[in-house]
Amino acid sequence: MSERFVVVGAGTMGLGIAYVAAGSGHAVELVEVDPGRGATALNRLADLWERAVQRGKLSADEAAANRLRVTLRPTLADVVPAPEVIVEAVPERLDLKRAVLREAAALGPALLGSNTSSIAIGELAAGLDAPERFLGLHFFNPVWAMALLEIVVGPATAEETTAAAVALAGRLGKDPVVVRDMPGFATSRLGVTLGLEAIRMVADEVASPADIDKAMVLGYRHPIGPLELTDLVAWTCGWTSPAPSRPRTGPASRRRPCWRRWCPPGAWARSPGTASTAGAAG
Ligand SMILES: NC(=O)c1ccc[n+]([C@@H]2O[C@H](COP(=O)([O-])OP(=O)(O)OC[C@H]3O[C@@H](n4cnc5c(N)ncnc54)[C@H](O)[C@@H]3O)[C@@H](O)[C@H]2O)c1
Repeated sequence: MSERFVVVGAGTMGLGIAYVAAGSGHAVELVEVDPGRGATALNRLADLWERAVQRGKLSADEAAANRLRVTLRPTLADVVPAPEVIVEAVPERLDLKRAVLREAAALGPALLGSNTSSIAIGELAAGLDAPERFLGLHFFNPVWAMALLEIVVGPATAEETTAAAVALAGRLGKDPVVVRDMPGFATSRLGVTLGLEAIRMVADEVASPADIDKAMVLGYRHPIGPLELTDLVAWTCGWTSPAPSRPRTGPASRRRPCWRRWCPPGAWARSPGTASTAGAAG
């Protein structure tokens, strides 16, 4: 089924969602306020499709058709009203997301989703006229490679909306889990808990960072160790989650490790490897 699909924010996640939606046959309107980032996103999408052709995953015609399905829009006011789906993927700031979601809701989408990784859906829904059509659509990075779609059901989300999101996941080639609107949802709650405990274990000198990761890879069949994973995602996303979400992610997160001892201020914006290698040195 071809639907009109709007993605707000053409950053890391927005362009990934646009890539998957266009690849599934949807007409995509990609809304980006920053013209430079918008142009970069279109170039990146073209590059991704070009590489898919080179790897034999798509024909040149299919890649060209996918590219033509994506239209860049400078603001939500430029979007044609009443799309089937709008997914908000702007930076993780409550005030910004609320403003964008209110504007998006006014376009009358059948389904309105937020790609938030940490903000409560109930908090984001405040001020929406039709919160029953709103929920969390938590995609993972890179969107084209990660099978999971975490569907977060808010306090006002209607059952039909959840069912529509599950069906949408299938059409996008994603495998959904449906979770209640609790801090950290399912993924971040468990992922952050594991990462924090691994950092505490470095502090307690239980083992070297490399051996802590190796223990989970070889002993529990995790594809990647908790410290390496924390380097990849938490230092750039999880730790900068809004304060209201953090203390409630679970009992373990209340005993926060002295991670600043290993990770100097600003270091979580660095490239992968920071936390565990700095931990090894600390
Ligand atoms: N990066 C990840 O690994 C990841 C994974 C899962 C979920 N998320 C969540 O996805 C969301 C987006 O994250 P990201 O990493 O893609 O951020 P990003 O900074 O890469 O991209 C956000 C984009 O939104 C644009 N933007 C800001 N205000 C806008 C507006 N009013 N209208 C249109 N565009 C606007 C920015 O210019 C930017 O290009 C966040 O909520 C984040 O928590 C991120």
